[in-house]
Amino acid sequence: MPEKSRKSLKVNRSKLAHKAAYAVRNPARIAPYLRRAARDGWLRFRSPDHVAYYRAVMASDTASNPEAAVGSRSHERWLALGQMQFDYLQRHGLQKQHRMLDIGCGNLRAGWRFIDFLEPGHYYGIDISPDILVAAKKTLVGYGLQEKVPYLTPTQDLTLDFLPTGHFDVVHAHSVFSHSPIEVIDECLAHVGRVLAPDGFFDFTFDRTEGAEHQVLREDFYYRTETLTNLALRHGLEARFMDDWEQLPHGQSKIRVARPGARALEGPERRGAPEKVER
Ligand SMILES: C[S@@+](CC[C@H](N)C(=O)[O-])C[C@H]1O[C@@H](n2cnc3c(N)ncnc32)[C@H](O)[C@@H]1O
Repeated sequence: MPEKSRKSLKVNRSKLAHKAAYAVRNPARIAPYLRRAARDGWLRFRSPDHVAYYRAVMASDTASNPEAAVGSRSHERWLALGQMQFDYLQRHGLQKQHRMLDIGCGNLRAGWRFIDFLEPGHYYGIDISPDILVAAKKTLVGYGLQEKVPYLTPTQDLTLDFLPTGHFDVVHAHSVFSHSPIEVIDECLAHVGRVLAPDGFFDFTFDRTEGAEHQVLREDFYYRTETLTNLALRHGLEARFMDDWEQLPHGQSKIRVARPGARALEGPERRGAPEKVER
């Protein structure tokens, strides 16, 4: 069973010393890293606004390989990561009749399984990247899920202003806040409560640190758990750290937020975590 070491939780990946030690241990990764840093530097120069920048990153990555663009090294891993998300959510309350909002749905790595499971018209996927949504439509066609009439919509922000009040039983964001500066997360938490049904919940993953919060290439952001739970609280939501997610072979951590007292928040609280493997 994977376990995130105390050391990996304290590491600051933005520090030069960490990068140098990593390069010595992984010389084959130096050239790809430098290429990525140069590409990202150019994209940041062209798009100082984070969402525009990350949309450009996704356009570039999707053009090469949509499955790699959402973080999977191979088709087998793409299938496995989708299955992991689906199985976990089904074990933690997802029901066929639920209405689900999948924030940052990507190319439907997990989305096609949710669409297949839910009643027609009950899946709503949004993403900042039109390119990945085009890839999402291909996934939908590939699995023959047209009759499930899911919504797939590009978005510029996370105000969720085009969505109805009290509508969604489940809101989900897998590997989205791990790529988001705090303002984006704040915006989402400020507005998600409005679209949640009374007993609804919002599950999201994040890259956890127990040391200094930091980011790498403005692509990967590391937060302390309490930063995010306090932010949720400021927006009138209670949070639960989903400790059993940490037993799975996935490098991120998971938090569930809901209205105070919601049944979905019930559960034991423990800590522990795996090594980062993929997003
Ligand atoms: C690592 S991928 C994960 C995709 C999908 N959730 C999955 O697990 O396969 C992150 C996705 O989030 C999208 N994204 C990043 N920031 C976003 C934001 N602020 N709002 C909506 N989507 C966002 C990206 O375009 C990308 O498709």
